[in-house]
Amino acid sequence: MKVLMVCLGNICRSPLSEGILKHKAQLDGLNWEVNSAGTGNYHIGEPPHLLSQKVALAHGIDISQHKAQQFTAQDMLIYNLIYVMDADNYKAVEQISKKMFNPAKTKLIMNELFPHTNTEVPDPWFGTEKDFIKVYQMLDAATDSIIQKYRSTNTIIKNTHE
Ligand code: 4NP
Repeated sequence: MKVLMVCLGNICRSPLSEGILKHKAQLDGLNWEVNSAGTGNYHIGEPPHLLSQKVALAHGIDISQHKAQQFTAQDMLIYNLIYVMDADNYKAVEQISKKMFNPAKTKLIMNELFPHTNTEVPDPWFGTEKDFIKVYQMLDAATDSIIQKYRSTNTIIKNTHE
């Protein structure tokens, strides 16, 4: 399973969701590849926002090594699932992908938790730590749903001592 998380800058929401899903997949022994990208190019090469790093680390997740990258049409072919944080991200992914766009694999991430509601993960860029904590909580719940929904379709890597 290859999963791509997408937001605007790839420094606040999507690297956090990448870190959380990677962490949960590892704990479950799932051989998933999880990555993240932004629809914009403003922050390419930058590490995640310090508050995203802080809230992740408070849950034992280190996202400091991620470098912001921009979503490309090629990503539509590489990944099985592409999760966007909000409706603007969805439109931008559609525009960047052009004829490669595949609506079957492009989803608002919160729809995995609250189907058909089109709930958005709010952009915390101008917010405070409280806003980043709220984003963490939303992504924590949504990624639980993703793991539950797709875990059975994947290879389980058993620990050698089992
Ligand atoms: P993100 O947050 O999309 O969750 O990474 C943002 C980061 C930067 C900007 C906007 C949103 N910006 O306008 O630079």
